[in-house]
Amino acid sequence: MTEKDFIPKLYSNSIEFGSFTWSSPSNIALVKYWGKKENQIPANPSISFTLDACKTTTTLKVSKNESPNDFSFNVFLNEEKNDGFKPKIYIFFKRIEIYLPFLKEFHFDIETNNTFPHSSGIASSASGMSALALCLMSIEKEMNPTMSDEFFNQKASFLARLGSGSASRSIQGDLVCWGKHKEITGSSDLFGVKYPFQVHDNFKNYQDTILLVDKGEKQVSSTIGHDLMHNHPFAEQRFMQAHENLSKLINVFKKGDLKSFIEIVESEALTLHSMMMTSMPYFILMKPNTLEIINKIWSFRQETGLHICFTLDAGANVHILYPEHEAEEISEFIKSELVAYCQNGHYICDRIGFGAKQLPI
Ligand code: DP6
Repeated sequence: MTEKDFIPKLYSNSIEFGSFTWSSPSNIALVKYWGKKENQIPANPSISFTLDACKTTTTLKVSKNESPNDFSFNVFLNEEKNDGFKPKIYIFFKRIEIYLPFLKEFHFDIETNNTFPHSSGIASSASGMSALALCLMSIEKEMNPTMSDEFFNQKASFLARLGSGSASRSIQGDLVCWGKHKEITGSSDLFGVKYPFQVHDNFKNYQDTILLVDKGEKQVSSTIGHDLMHNHPFAEQRFMQAHENLSKLINVFKKGDLKSFIEIVESEALTLHSMMMTSMPYFILMKPNTLEIINKIWSFRQETGLHICFTLDAGANVHILYPEHEAEEISEFIKSELVAYCQNGHYICDRIGFGAKQLPI
């Protein structure tokens, strides 16, 4: 597939109005996407667990645009009009217009709700952009009803990627790869694909407890962080390492090798943050409590031999990953030892999910 394959030919049907609702999850990367080329092409492949509880539900209400020379839309977050998101969505519409040439024909009311608090420091761009991309694809599907489900999902991921790279991994599947990798069949820089190989039962229903260490606005956005990988002294080495880690994970998933899983995932998280610390300008997104939690996890793991590990996204919050069969002891430990490091004691219990769902009107 190339970009051109996503430019539609003539549509067989037309619509004048409609309403489409999708609920789309967030995801947590195991091998991280950090660094990109032009047009949201990732500098290295990544893989993520799709989440279940952390999600965005978006309803797109479609009507006629009375002045079709420009995009026309309003955004509502939790029932309140929110102009703060408009610039990002405007840029998104501009990027995807060539692939959805009907965009200016309609006025859109975009009504969006997150299950997690907006100010939780959890990025809503993956779930938000994927939910919006899916709603837009529902319009295209009405205009081209013979479209296959496979194409629908691929193009939804392709469009979501143009909104936010990690959003390409929130459409379908529990484990999703995005970015071309020589050993992963069907992998592409243009969209995310369901991980195609065997996954051991150890990873079924894997748990993710998210400790909200800092709910404030990040000092440096992901977009700026990605940019700082250009001319970064360790960039090439890092991109190679991501390929290698993804190769290693294939066997880890197959064998259910939790020990190696932990090694790769924690190393990826710390490498991501070391890239931030060694860029120019440099920055640190971890907080003292992030480190307290990491050290507690390491001691607990050593004492108990349980398979608890952490990963981080581009912020101070800690995702604690562990297998379902160890959930009882590990959640006891989290509650008694770690929640004290969370801002206002806030944390979210999540687990692997299976992707986005269309909701009835
Ligand atoms: C650290 O997808 O938020 O979470 O493409 O600029 O929107 P943009 O960036 P974004 O970056 C995510 C970075 C990460 C790692 C990951 O999810 O792979």
